[in-house]
Amino acid sequence: MICVIGGAGYIGSHCVKRLLERGYEVVTLDNLEAGHRAAVVGGEFVQGDYTDRQTLDTLFTSYPIECVMHFAAYASVAESMTDPAKFYRLNVVGGYTLLEAMRAHHIPYLIFSSSAATYGEPCQIPIPEDHPQEPTNAYGETKRAFEQMLRWYDVAFGLRSISLRYFNAAGADPEGQLGEDHHPETHLIPLVLLTALGKRPVIKIFGTDYDTPDGTAIRDYIHVTDLADAHILAYEALKRGAPTSAYNLGNGLGYSVREVIRTAEEVVGRSIPQEEAPRRAGDPARLVASADRAKHELGWQPQYADLRTIIETAWRWHSTHPDGYGDRT
Ligand code: UFG
Repeated sequence: MICVIGGAGYIGSHCVKRLLERGYEVVTLDNLEAGHRAAVVGGEFVQGDYTDRQTLDTLFTSYPIECVMHFAAYASVAESMTDPAKFYRLNVVGGYTLLEAMRAHHIPYLIFSSSAATYGEPCQIPIPEDHPQEPTNAYGETKRAFEQMLRWYDVAFGLRSISLRYFNAAGADPEGQLGEDHHPETHLIPLVLLTALGKRPVIKIFGTDYDTPDGTAIRDYIHVTDLADAHILAYEALKRGAPTSAYNLGNGLGYSVREVIRTAEEVVGRSIPQEEAPRRAGDPARLVASADRAKHELGWQPQYADLRTIIETAWRWHSTHPDGYGDRT
């Protein structure tokens, strides 16, 4: 059985759905602080805090868990700069509690949601896994810290893990059942589409003076269902004996903010109000993955690679769920 911590969140919920489709038994643990109960489409559900050892002990005693997929974390880069303590508490101290509970209950495998934010300002594009990890924000630092813990937990205790460094997770369940619903929303694609729906007045373009062809920042958008598939492949690799390691997950294609808005306009069939704004602090000009290792070693092949498809799936979700899951005021 697989335990998905943070399985009611954006990426976790898509992973739960995919695991169930593949016939895996799943138990989700989520405290619903940011997650949505309606996003957990099946399997067992336990509401609770993964930072609480008692909760983990009860969970790990109640279910025959072989692998933990760990999605639960604070992820707002901006907030991590004003309240790093909050991020260390959940992402690192919580992670330590989880690893100790896994050790105590002899759970052998963990798949961890890491981030391109662990690299910081890239000195090479596309970014390979052995690029220096020098985060420029506290969020990325907490992800790096937990990756390091995982390394040493394998060396000393034999707990094997794969860290998956996501680039820009985007899109929504192609069947329209799940999608992105953050409060507050900070990500580009949902904000662009909510603007198209008239739920927001205008999309601000943060920075038009980057050293890029159109002056706006470039990112590697990767479909959330493709991310989910990579988790399953990573788990299967661990079962076959793969060593503890880390993989980038991206398409290897960079799109600028203006290209994203333009593609969204094509998808929705109308123009979207936009305005130029200053750069957002801490944003690198370009983040593009080299995901060759995940393709070669895990057999990962993104199915929804092109930006238009990614935005189409997101649009299907937002246009049918303009208030998301409808469980927040
Ligand atoms: N952007 C805008 N206007 C907006 C929102 C975003 O122009 O209203 C721009 C940003 O400045 C950036 C790009 O759109 O250049 C993408 O921004 P997102 O906030 O969607 O994503 P980020 O690249 O900042 O961050 C994402 C994840 C982080 C992770 C980071 C690096 O959200 O958790 O990738 O992996 F740390």
